[in-house]
Amino acid sequence: MAYTFGNLSVRLPAMIITIDGPAGSGKSTAARKLAAELGIDFLDTGATYRAVTLRAMKLGADMEDSKALVQIARQADISFRRQGRSLKVLLDGQDVSEAIRTEDVSRNSYYIARADGCRQVLVELQRRLGRQMGNFVSEGRDQGSVVFPDADFKIYLDASPDVRAQRRFDEAAARGEKVEYAKVLEDIMQRDRRDQSRATGPLVRPAGAIVVDTSGMTIEQVVARLLSIVRAGR
Ligand code: DC
Repeated sequence: MAYTFGNLSVRLPAMIITIDGPAGSGKSTAARKLAAELGIDFLDTGATYRAVTLRAMKLGADMEDSKALVQIARQADISFRRQGRSLKVLLDGQDVSEAIRTEDVSRNSYYIARADGCRQVLVELQRRLGRQMGNFVSEGRDQGSVVFPDADFKIYLDASPDVRAQRRFDEAAARGEKVEYAKVLEDIMQRDRRDQSRATGPLVRPAGAIVVDTSGMTIEQVVARLLSIVRAGR
């Protein structure tokens, strides 16, 4: 972070904030808003998994063939571009910001996330993107534990499975999608099992992380809590 005193500019070491947590804990929205409040970058690591997933799908890859998936990850050219207030995701020169958010990509991202070799490629990519950004909030599953273990602030956002399922259900309803609550809950629990049981980079509470249970909180309250943690220096 650079501070200017008169005509003297002092560059302080980069500030890194990691936010990990299960699906539906609110971490994505919270991370985005926290970064905006602090005026620093947002590193959406889920988008890197999604971009590789989309590349594999476009190439018609066999999702069980982890060797082929690693090759696809290695050859992927993934970057982020700020456009006004939003962050665009580029894959091989094309804007895939929307294409990576489909249900098919969500479902297939499991194969990329569980492939050790793909994770290695993406961890390296995320560190490189982080170095370019300098000060940033990164969000994912393994950010405080694996990717940026020396982060200044490590946050773990949690919420009960019921609350997380209800949030997903409400979001789908707001988009006009017809979904069954029981199915959404089952999906969330399956995602938890997969995220937590992965051999490499499983979802864990990183050592030294501050745990925030967002169950009874609105997104505004979550962001306010995170801001107070950062501003208080812990
Ligand atoms: O957070 P998301 O739904 O955009 O994540 C997409 C996929 O990538 C999902 O399968 C979880 C996985 N993921 C991961 O394994 N590690 C990360 N740091 C971020 C996402």
